[in-house]
Amino acid sequence: MYTTAYRTHTCAAASAADTDKEITLVGWVHRRRDHGGLVFIDLRDRYGVTQVVTDPEISGAAHKTFETVRPEWVLQVKGKVRRRPAGQENPRMKTGEIELLIMEVNVLNEAETPPFQIDVENNENEEVRLQYRYLDLRRERMQKNIILRHKLLQATRKFFYEKDFVEIETPILIKGTPEGAREYLVPSRVHAGKFYVLPQSPQQLKQLSQVAGFDRYMQIARCFRDEDQRGDRQPEFTQMDLEMSFVNSEDVMNLNEAALKTIVKEVLPNVKLKSEKFPRLTYDEAMNRYGSDKPDLRYDLEFTDVTEECRGCGFGVFSNAVENGGVVKVLNVTGGGKLSRKEIDELTDAAKIYGAKGLAWIKVAEDGKLEGVPVAKIGEDLAGKIVAKAQAKPGDILLFAADSWSIACNSLGAVRIEAAKKLGFLEGKENEFAFCWITEFPMFELDKETGEVSAMHHPFTRPKNLAEFEKMFANQKDESAVTSVKAEAYDIVLNGYEIGGGSIRIHERDLQSKIFQVLKVSEADAQRRFGHILKAFSFGAPPHGGIAWGLDRIAMLFAGEPNIREVIAFPKTNKAEDLMLGAPDIIPEKLLAESNIKSIAKKKEEA
Ligand code: AMO
Repeated sequence: MYTTAYRTHTCAAASAADTDKEITLVGWVHRRRDHGGLVFIDLRDRYGVTQVVTDPEISGAAHKTFETVRPEWVLQVKGKVRRRPAGQENPRMKTGEIELLIMEVNVLNEAETPPFQIDVENNENEEVRLQYRYLDLRRERMQKNIILRHKLLQATRKFFYEKDFVEIETPILIKGTPEGAREYLVPSRVHAGKFYVLPQSPQQLKQLSQVAGFDRYMQIARCFRDEDQRGDRQPEFTQMDLEMSFVNSEDVMNLNEAALKTIVKEVLPNVKLKSEKFPRLTYDEAMNRYGSDKPDLRYDLEFTDVTEECRGCGFGVFSNAVENGGVVKVLNVTGGGKLSRKEIDELTDAAKIYGAKGLAWIKVAEDGKLEGVPVAKIGEDLAGKIVAKAQAKPGDILLFAADSWSIACNSLGAVRIEAAKKLGFLEGKENEFAFCWITEFPMFELDKETGEVSAMHHPFTRPKNLAEFEKMFANQKDESAVTSVKAEAYDIVLNGYEIGGGSIRIHERDLQSKIFQVLKVSEADAQRRFGHILKAFSFGAPPHGGIAWGLDRIAMLFAGEPNIREVIAFPKTNKAEDLMLGAPDIIPEKLLAESNIKSIAKKKEEA
């Protein structure tokens, strides 16, 4: 009941069993209804809503106050619990059998008219919601989301604490650590011209915790990345960060699989897993079959490779792609025959975002006849063979991507997602979770334009096969050898989102130095930037590995929300602004000077 100096009960606590009891509630005016003589108020707190009513015959003073109160005022009300008259019960409310007949009311605070209604959602502009986030958070949807997130965090901590993991807090003011994103910088007041960097993740620190002997580390950790925002990205976000010693990737994956299953069961008992054992796909398999390294496996749609069938097939779009070393992939969309021209155009637009020049298609009509431009070009025989290989049936449509492997896979992957949306393949699957692991990622990525090599996961990730790595290391000029080396890395995917990623690490100083060499980090630079970890590795570093989950993304999927802002109490906009606080903000020159910073404006003024 959470009794305090202000209340005896919460707004969800009273029931028919309390009939005739005198109780005191506090809360916000959710709704107010004047019913000729009687005034009803739904009084709301975090726990629920209780209907409270004044009758001028019982308390004239309380009744007068009730006639003036407005939504979102804060009231303390004292009254007697009574059963609602027969027929007026509300089975949808926890307190729906009773109401509180008020004897005394105390206005604790008044409220201006809020910029939006709290008791209903009207599709308000998100900017207004974010500007008045403290009001937005009063609403039922947000209260539910924040509490669900809390339960997710508690269940996560509980699972790992029970398995003897130690939570170690790592610092926020650190030295730069390369994980692919731009870093936020913090100027030092004491050390003129020097900067701290906010962690993109506690990666190096958790590895150092392993060197320190804490062989099972976890932390609910805040991470900071100055990168372009999207629906599933925020400049600051939360990870469940984990590291273990003396493990291989199976150990890490099996433990995390058990953790995710336990947490889903505990927090979302109604959710069904598509597969109790999480499927494992290599990166190549995932790209080849679904055109994504985070495939949504709630539906089956898979690609069929028809590169060989299309070699010299007479249709330039297909045969040229093959001649140029590319591939032809086809997606059989079950029941897609009913897609309209306009819808196919929209799918083509989705493919073009990933570099495809178009989207050829063949429909299998109800009578088995094949329609579409490629049919005449490649002939009915070959068209029929492709239809059979892709197992298309009357009513289906085949969508083709003919291009380099990467463009073909990525563009058809985008088409797969859009087609599933258009055909409603996710309807009725709101309570289904399809997890999968993606393994054997490439170790390195090559920027074709700049020729720059970068680590696909991060530079502390171990090559899967050391002999293969050494061979490549001896001949780094061979670009295809560099990009074909595989990493001992794994991602965990849920319903089409990457919810976590990790790897087995390098624990040998020499191997780590070699990785920096492949990444073209000079010896001097490696010493300056990573001397600490290279040094640590020379003091008996154990073999180790780990993972980090994106807790905001998991909370978003748990809550069934379309973006992570809905599960973060005080999120930032797509432009990385906090509209409520007004951050980022300008800082007075005096404060800047103390931090040894001169603004560009000031410099211009002096020039
Ligand atoms: P990674 O960079 O893959 O790995 O991050 C792990 C998970 O964090 C989530 N994530 C984000 N969530 C919200 N906003 C962002 N900007 C954002 N960026 C990442 C994703 C991702 O899968 N140190 C390594 C982990 C390791 O190797 O152990 C790391 O941070 O869900």
